Amino acid sequence: MIDAYQASSQARVNAALEPLFVAPSPEMKRLYEAMRYSVMNGGKRVRPLLAYAACEALGAPAEQANGAACAVELIHAYSLVHDDLPAMDDDDLRRGQPTTHKAFDEACAILAGDGLQSLAFSALLDPSLSSVNAEIRLRMVTTLAVAAGPAGMVGGQAIDLGSVGQKLDQQALEHMHRHKTGALIEAAVHLGALASGRAEAAQLAALQVYSGAIGLAFQVQDDILDVESDTATLGKRQGADIARDKPTYPALLGLDAAKAYALELRDQALAALRPFDAAAEPLRDLARYIVERRH
Ligand code: IPE
Ligand code: IPE
Ligand code: MG
Ligand code: MG
Ligand code: MG
Repeated sequence: MIDAYQASSQARVNAALEPLFVAPSPEMKRLYEAMRYSVMNGGKRVRPLLAYAACEALGAPAEQANGAACAVELIHAYSLVHDDLPAMDDDDLRRGQPTTHKAFDEACAILAGDGLQSLAFSALLDPSLSSVNAEIRLRMVTTLAVAAGPAGMVGGQAIDLGSVGQKLDQQALEHMHRHKTGALIEAAVHLGALASGRAEAAQLAALQVYSGAIGLAFQVQDDILDVESDTATLGKRQGADIARDKPTYPALLGLDAAKAYALELRDQALAALRPFDAAAEPLRDLARYIVERRH
């Protein structure tokens, strides 16, 4: 089920993303190529899938969430380009290819990330990508701005960089993970739900519990895969966290307890979806996928 859903959702978001990378003038060709390279390179598209699935869970067609899906993937891609820079995680492999600063250069990678961030907000505001009213669109822009910014992902990345070599306790580690990775995953679900144009407060509250749990579970699994997967499967350097002495769940709890925790978070997410009918099945599948995935 998840394979077919993932394939059709990936095709949908890729078709919506592709036209964004046409350079408006020849001097900007390299910048646009770097942005295209950073996005159209085979990511799993988990955040767009979550946006589509949330929209469908509320009974609206997935296409209605195209703006949300593009926006969260563009922010995510920008965060990866900057995360890989020498000043941050200093990685040379991403999605099975050289990282953007290796394929281009550092200045170009910084600008590509900056550009992708702006494109994310343009996508959210593009009426051809979703047809919600102005009030809902404003809520969507606010949601993404908060989730991506210093109170969300960027704040989490700052905590991450500030805690290299330190031993965080579980509360501090959870705080970091909920910001650097959880915030954007929560936003993906929230934006998809808003894009349906028919989200009620109680439904948004239940989806918030769901997305909080899977957002944390996603980074716990990312930490686990850094330990037990391999570079070819991951498409990024296995063991990078250990090499850099990053605080992670396996480092803090041990591998088995980290795995048990990921499953517990999955169950919390599934419990939050109990009020929803069969239309929420893709969201349920995604909760399972996030802790079972091998890359
Ligand atoms: C990796 O995200 C970075 C984290 C936030 C853990 P993904 O595992 O979603 O990466 P892609 O998009 O599939 O490459
Ligand atoms: C990345 O976390 C979180 C972001 C906001 C990009 P990681 O540094 O663990 O992501 P990977 O393992 O490099 O993909
Ligand atoms: Mg990092
Ligand atoms: Mg990294
Ligand atoms: Mg990681």
